[in-house]
Amino acid sequence: MEQTPIIIVNVKTYLESTGPRAVAMARLMGTLASETKASLVIAVQPSDISACVALGRLPVYAQHIDPMPPGSCTGWVLPEAVKAAGAVGTLINHSEHRLRLADIDACITRANAVGLTSVVCTNNVATSKAAAGLLPSMIAIEPPELIGGDISVTTADPRIVSDSVKAVKSVAPGVKVLCGAGVKTGEDVTAAGRLGADGVLLASGVVKAKDQEKVLRDLIAGLR
Ligand code: G3P
Repeated sequence: MEQTPIIIVNVKTYLESTGPRAVAMARLMGTLASETKASLVIAVQPSDISACVALGRLPVYAQHIDPMPPGSCTGWVLPEAVKAAGAVGTLINHSEHRLRLADIDACITRANAVGLTSVVCTNNVATSKAAAGLLPSMIAIEPPELIGGDISVTTADPRIVSDSVKAVKSVAPGVKVLCGAGVKTGEDVTAAGRLGADGVLLASGVVKAKDQEKVLRDLIAGLR
């Protein structure tokens, strides 16, 4: 599993981070990770995994996997396929791709089987606690109503972060807890650490930034 504290940039399906632009962002993040020794990860669309991995400078995650068996299944994201493309981890149950509990459990099992770090996204303290019982590698608490907004979860609702950390650690002390939604600055990253989080998961603050390098450097500074 990747080192924490960690910054995971989920590029989602933004055109600003699709195809060659996903590779450009991975190249920038890889350069900054090498320079600063910060633990950075990019989560990209399936079609962009291998090109980002080929840069050889940054761990790459999938944004989703399906717990389908190899064989006659059409249009699903096979865990073995993202592993073969070079991904080292995957998001599971992002609020923009919600799964049933049984499917989350099956995805974690398959991620473990093929050797992928699993980051299960949750929306409140109760789901964070429930997900902890499934023993993913990490949990990322992200209140959906704050996603894409300008106010960080660490400001808008710090208790959901600290309470999720307590709840997860009470069930599975080894599971790392990240937070996300509205995270934009190094101050937000520092605040996340003060609340007990092992890192952050973010998207628009980097993807939509005019100066992505400037934003990434500020976020990295917040890890200190
Ligand atoms: O996966 C992280 C994402 O849901 C957070 O989005 O744009 O608020 O950083 P954003």
